[in-house]
Amino acid sequence: MVKTAIVYYSSGGTNYQLAKWAAEAAKEAGSEVRILKAAETAPQAAIESNPAWKANVEATKDVPEVKPEDLEWADAIIFSVPTRFGNMPGQMKNFLDTTGGLWAKGKLANKAVSAMSSAQNPHGGQEATILSLYTTMYHWGAIVVAPGYTDPVTFGAGGNPYGTSVTVGQDGKMIEDVQAAVKHQAKRTVQVAKALAHLEA
Ligand SMILES: Cc1cc2nc3c(=O)[nH]c(=O)nc-3n(C[C@H](O)[C@H](O)[C@H](O)COP(=O)(O)O)c2cc1C
Repeated sequence: MVKTAIVYYSSGGTNYQLAKWAAEAAKEAGSEVRILKAAETAPQAAIESNPAWKANVEATKDVPEVKPEDLEWADAIIFSVPTRFGNMPGQMKNFLDTTGGLWAKGKLANKAVSAMSSAQNPHGGQEATILSLYTTMYHWGAIVVAPGYTDPVTFGAGGNPYGTSVTVGQDGKMIEDVQAAVKHQAKRTVQVAKALAHLEA
């Protein structure tokens, strides 16, 4: 059975929700799934000062922290992160920078990978954030599975062909309805992982 790791970071809960929708779709597509979070690196005082962040940390306390071994285990890896100044959050970069050992052994080659993001503004840097993740994945030799416009659901979700992205309002709620696009992207990534199964990493 194809194995999928959904690796996310979220302070307000948006990217956790995207990760959960992706997990549902990956399971429906016949994959074993792990949802994993990037370890928090922010000081506790910063979390305590923000009620939404604090609530999300509490709500996700039982989600395991991602380890490099989870990437080695997976055939498909789907990332989801908020936009931070048009880039991925440091928490995710911190994790990616621990994958050098796997990379050196070629263990991340030929993984089917895909990425999602959110931002506060419709043009706040979502595409740049997704591309920043893909840059690392090109170095791994992974196979980037962008949704493109392979299904009309992408248009309804704002039309980001690099990966599903969503705008988050001041109230923390998602503006576009992206659930179907997330599910399409996850299913497609699992399908590509299945198609790549005969390649040796
Ligand atoms: C340090 C920082 C930088 C941010 N930079 C951007 C940005 O460049 N563009 C933008 O639209 N939103 C930006 N935001 C808003 C976040 O992208 C938004 O809160 C996030 O997508 C919500 O996702 P989450 O609920 O999973 O944490 C930033 C937020 C923080 C804390």
